[in-house]
Amino acid sequence: MSPLISNINILFFFFMIMISLLNQSSNAADFCVADLTAPEGPAGYPCKDASTVTSDDFYLNNITRTRTRYPLFKVSATFATTPNFPGLNGLGLSMHYFEIGVDGFVPILTKPQTSEIIYVIEGMVDVGFISSDNKAFYKTLRDGDVFAFPKGLLHFFVNSGRKSTARILASYSSSDPGIQFFTNSIAGNDLPSEMVAKVTFLDTDQVKKLKAQFGGTN
Ligand SMILES: *[C@@H]1O[C@H](CO)[C@@H](O)[C@H](O)[C@H]1NC(C)=O
Repeated sequence: MSPLISNINILFFFFMIMISLLNQSSNAADFCVADLTAPEGPAGYPCKDASTVTSDDFYLNNITRTRTRYPLFKVSATFATTPNFPGLNGLGLSMHYFEIGVDGFVPILTKPQTSEIIYVIEGMVDVGFISSDNKAFYKTLRDGDVFAFPKGLLHFFVNSGRKSTARILASYSSSDPGIQFFTNSIAGNDLPSEMVAKVTFLDTDQVKKLKAQFGGTN
């Protein structure tokens, strides 16, 4: 056997070994598609059997189409988050598409673990957030504009286009962001109204009124 041929043979076997190593290591750590039948923990869902993962786990058909409606705020939204987009599990990212109707708004809220960036597809919207030292950062956005909300801070959206619906795409640094609406949090609970009034500086009557509106008791 000539030295040339034996060198080619060695190279060939080297490549075969590389390819088989690559094949063995494929998949295992590429993704952790959510097993939605198991409970969700702080780090997300457990992974479902990789052999049952399909392209549809990484796909959501037309995010603008099937929206959940919130008539009180004149908002409708589609959530591309782990519960309806299992391929996002563990990736630390997700999306919402939402529309805010004329006179509509998103009430002040925080996503405690999650930073956010939005893109205004259409319309005009006032957005803002309040920092830990109570400084307000506030802007009027029009179609094509982008705005970022740092993690955990209280923020809001108000449709300021007199006649047009605002259409917005938002991306998050979490696969399934927890959301706390400020007013729901203080008025949607079963704490005694007197206690809520004391810790919020609101009047007890005002707290009772808000509790009736936001499903709280006591
Ligand atoms: C997606 O949904 C919107 C309705 O929100 C519709 O106007 C649009 O045609 C849909 N896209 C496709 C490709 O069907």
